Amino acid sequence: MTGSILSACLVAALTLASPADKTTPPAAEPSAPTDRYADNACVQCHRDLPGRSSEIVELQWKHSVHYEANVGCDGCHGGNPAVRPDQFESTDALKRAAHQRRNPEFLTMRRSQDGIVSNTTGRSVSYFCGKCHDQIKEKHLGSPHGDFGDPTCLYCHGQGSHKITDATPQIIDTAGRAEAGRCSPCHEASTMAVVKQIKQTLTETEQRISESGQLYNELESWGYRNLELEKLHHHVGEVHSKLRQIFHSFNMREIDNFAAEIQEVTDHTTETHELIKRQREVRRQQTVMGVLAVCLLLSFAGLLVYYKHSFLDPMHTQA
Ligand code: HEC
Ligand code: HEC
Ligand code: HEC
Ligand code: HEC
Ligand code: HEC
Repeated sequence: MTGSILSACLVAALTLASPADKTTPPAAEPSAPTDRYADNACVQCHRDLPGRSSEIVELQWKHSVHYEANVGCDGCHGGNPAVRPDQFESTDALKRAAHQRRNPEFLTMRRSQDGIVSNTTGRSVSYFCGKCHDQIKEKHLGSPHGDFGDPTCLYCHGQGSHKITDATPQIIDTAGRAEAGRCSPCHEASTMAVVKQIKQTLTETEQRISESGQLYNELESWGYRNLELEKLHHHVGEVHSKLRQIFHSFNMREIDNFAAEIQEVTDHTTETHELIKRQREVRRQQTVMGVLAVCLLLSFAGLLVYYKHSFLDPMHTQA
């Protein structure tokens, strides 16, 4: 009997001492592919045009973030994608109707062969993209690059004008001229030092945000709440975006100030996490000790009962 009490207690103590299991959410169901642009006149007509147009549709735009985000040709170029072939007598009339009220910024974009690094240059590119990326447009126009008119949004984000892919710090290319670095046509070794510094600040801050988020998740799973820390951890997407917006100013002081604000919160998260973790550890040890003490007492009581039955009970002694 004593043995079984002891082993049951041991199991209880071990269960209490081991950390709780993490549960993983079930994977999302993949959705069936459909042509989201079946009714979009721009896509349907341009896809079948010879040369550059079909290349833009099939080889570039379809592999872009904009295709994924449901930004069609009209999102950038304007015009009317809802016209239907059966409403017009000729393809030309259909085209003219679709092309009406296209984005005038397009006409002011400078497309010439004398750009330093690309043949679409100038501030008008920023106004064109800035219809939707307004904050970044402002920062870019106020940056040394905006002033200079080059590099544009397209130079940094596009592989070809329409294959615009996910933004990452890898765009900040620190390779020199000999290795055909993307930033080196205009940046010599001296300014490249600042380029490297910006890249490092950006990468480190992004990593800090994500690591700190994991710590805060754990804190929350322990029932901990802190309004101050939630301002970062419950709005990671927005904070991340703001950092990336500010980055487009290419102003070291502005970027450093915002990075420092973030660091203050992530440091506070780490300290809080350590403190709460230590408190939980102490509490768990106390519980384990308590359980063991109770078990010991129970075993001792069991022993006494056994002793009484075996040696002191008159019935037992007679038999
Ligand atoms: C029925 C066919 C057709 C439709 C529909 C159509 N386009 Fe075009 N588009 C053309 C052709 C053909 C050209 C080549 C230049 C020309 O003939 O005007 C062109 C040229 C363009 C250009 C290059 C600039 C220029 O004006 O030359 C842009 C940008 C463009 N189209 C955007 C659009 C957008 C956005 C839509 C939808 C709102 C659209 N197109 C709908 C046939 C079409
Ligand atoms: C994210 C914005 C964006 C989207 C979406 C977009 N375009 Fe463009 N497009 C541009 C820009 C910027 C240029 C001018 C840059 C250049 O030609 O270098 C341009 C230029 C063009 C041109 C002229 C190319 C040339 O060589 O003269 C055509 C044609 C065109 N786009 C068609 C389309 C079609 C068709 C779609 C939809 C499948 C589309 N675009 C979607 C931004 C966009
Ligand atoms: C009609 C609105 C619209 C226009 C105009 C537009 N974009 Fe976008 N863009 C979006 C949307 C929506 C997304 C996806 C959501 C997001 O990340 O903001 C996106 C995503 C992006 C991303 C990826 C961001 C990331 O999180 O990695 C880049 C880079 C980008 N756009 C650059 C451009 C450039 C360059 C132009 C001009 C040639 C442009 N956009 C014009 C709406 C637009
Ligand atoms: C078409 C030329 C050109 C290209 C390409 C270019 N830049 Fe610049 N950049 C400039 C000019 C001009 C300035 C302002 C004068 C200066 O500081 O050299 C500048 C300034 C900067 C500054 C501020 C330097 C300081 O001392 O404050 C940074 C950082 C920077 N660029 C980063 C980049 C990165 C990253 C890339 C590559 C993605 C890049 N640049 C590509 C022209 C260019
Ligand atoms: C000198 C290069 C350069 C230029 C010019 C530039 N960008 Fe960026 N952009 C970047 C880099 C690098 C990142 C990613 C930063 C990161 O991952 O931290 C980025 C991030 C972005 C994002 C993602 C923002 C988010 O909320 O996550 C968008 C959208 C974007 N850029 C659009 C633009 C537009 C629009 C322009 C022109 C007005 C532009 N960029 C000009 C280099 C550039």
